[in-house]
Amino acid sequence: MSEPTRFVSRGQVMVVGPDAPHTMTVLEYLRLRLRRTGSKEGCAEGDCGACTVVIAELGPDGGLRYRAVNACILFVHQLDGKALFTVEDLADGNGQLHPVQQAMVDAHASQCGFCTPGFVMSLFAYFHGHEKADDESLKDALAGNLCRCTGYRPILEAGHRMFEGGSMDRFAAEEAALTAQLKILADGRHRMLRHSTPGGDFIAPRSTAELAETLSALPAGDVWLLAGGTDVGLWVTKQGRAPRSIISLGGIPELKRIDERPDETEIGAAVTYTDAFEAIARLHPAFARMLRRLGSTQIRNSGTLGGNIANGSPIGDSMPALIALDTILKLQGKAGTRTMPLEDFFLGYRKTASKSGEFVAGVTVKKPGPQSHVGIYKLSKRFDQDISAVLAAFHVVLEGDVVKQARLAYGGMAGIPARAKEAEAALAGRPFTPDGIEPAVAALAADFSPMSDIRASAEYRLLAAQNLLRKFCVEVSTGKPIGVEAAE
Ligand SMILES: Cc1cc2nc3c(=O)[nH]c(=O)nc-3n(C[C@H](O)[C@H](O)[C@H](O)COP(=O)(O)OP(=O)(O)OC[C@H]3O[C@@H](n4cnc5c(N)ncnc54)[C@H](O)[C@@H]3O)c2cc1C
Ligand code: FES
Ligand code: FES
Repeated sequence: MSEPTRFVSRGQVMVVGPDAPHTMTVLEYLRLRLRRTGSKEGCAEGDCGACTVVIAELGPDGGLRYRAVNACILFVHQLDGKALFTVEDLADGNGQLHPVQQAMVDAHASQCGFCTPGFVMSLFAYFHGHEKADDESLKDALAGNLCRCTGYRPILEAGHRMFEGGSMDRFAAEEAALTAQLKILADGRHRMLRHSTPGGDFIAPRSTAELAETLSALPAGDVWLLAGGTDVGLWVTKQGRAPRSIISLGGIPELKRIDERPDETEIGAAVTYTDAFEAIARLHPAFARMLRRLGSTQIRNSGTLGGNIANGSPIGDSMPALIALDTILKLQGKAGTRTMPLEDFFLGYRKTASKSGEFVAGVTVKKPGPQSHVGIYKLSKRFDQDISAVLAAFHVVLEGDVVKQARLAYGGMAGIPARAKEAEAALAGRPFTPDGIEPAVAALAADFSPMSDIRASAEYRLLAAQNLLRKFCVEVSTGKPIGVEAAE
């Protein structure tokens, strides 16, 4: 017997039965089933923010966390155990607008209005995480929302003005009740969620043991693992694909755990970027600066490190950074768990060392030593929400100014995220100075023969890879960031 998907909306527990196909998105469910058409579809690929809704869920401290997500690439069965807020929910029903909406009106922050529900919901999530607005975090919160007619100045102004009456709204008064409701949903969930829907099965195991068992019992090739869905969602909405079975990792507490130990931090595969970001930032601020440029707030609220690693893309942003930091990967399957250095996981273009029936369980990131210096640089055509042309991640351990150990890893330079071993050898034992690193800079040409594509030419990629190493060296020697990071 399966339990249905349950989520909270407007104080009510909503039940989604197996008549909702396993690939039905939250946006489709809202617009086609509930006839709540306030949330819009612009791109159906997580890029424009018109579909933004807010999910509230219980955080590790038992309190509520409000997170903006893209409804167009989130499946409705992923809502299980969460609360959903859409743009229709904000006004109180007696004509009283929410402070976010009122600020949008007062700042003249809408013209055609197509993007407006999405902006309102991104601001609503921000309202619930802040007491007042600051420009940097506000722009970050809105980087996943596009507006083609109003211009962003009035929208940012609304983001500031919404706090004029304070940072409480009517939802604050309802938080205790909502928290209790979500706890009841969590406590009442005992069995694996398994729906046989018209298109196929949606399965949500409750433990890694259940996941391993389920995965091994299904025919490989017609089953998709689903974490945040920021890749998988697009296979459905853009490629029209659907597997026989989807196994969601969203209901497995072990995969959502962050364990901060004295020398290292272990992060479960289903931890979102947003949460991983906070933990890794405590170890390596450079990593946090790069993660801020990965996708948008909505993407980081859904997407996971495990998904980024497992999809094996040569242009995924987290892998080179994690490889430079000597990260250990944990794989798990029915036969048990095994670990390996993350770099050994990538065997060839989108080919990984994962065996049939195995999944990524987590990663362990080491704490830097006192002489460690880390630099991570993302080059893309746009600052926000863009795919890297080159991602360079450097980790050097110095004794005085001499390189004791170097790990240089790049994305976008080969078919897999890869270390620059010739350049590393050319650095070892030499002074980490602008002159001292030139042999390593030259050696990068032996390490990589990058390709030309729409994002960058081969010549650009190699030159950029070399210049980023030079930039890192100057930053380490002067102790000051240069370029875009310095201006942040
Ligand atoms: C608008 C937009 C912007 C983006 N920007 C960036 C960017 O700047 N940089 C970047 O690197 N990526 C970016 N991405 C890609 C995407 O966000 C990442 O690849 C993300 O990390 C995938 O994680 P997920 O949890 O959403 O994975 P999903 O989509 O759920 O899964 C991705 C793949 O991994 C598999 N998988 C997931 N978890 C596991 C596991 N634990 N074990 C084994 N297999 C697993 C799935 O089966 C699937 O094959 C962007 C995507 C979108 C839509
Ligand atoms: S419709 Fe564009 S992000 Fe969802
Ligand atoms: S108001 Fe028209 S797209 Fe933003």
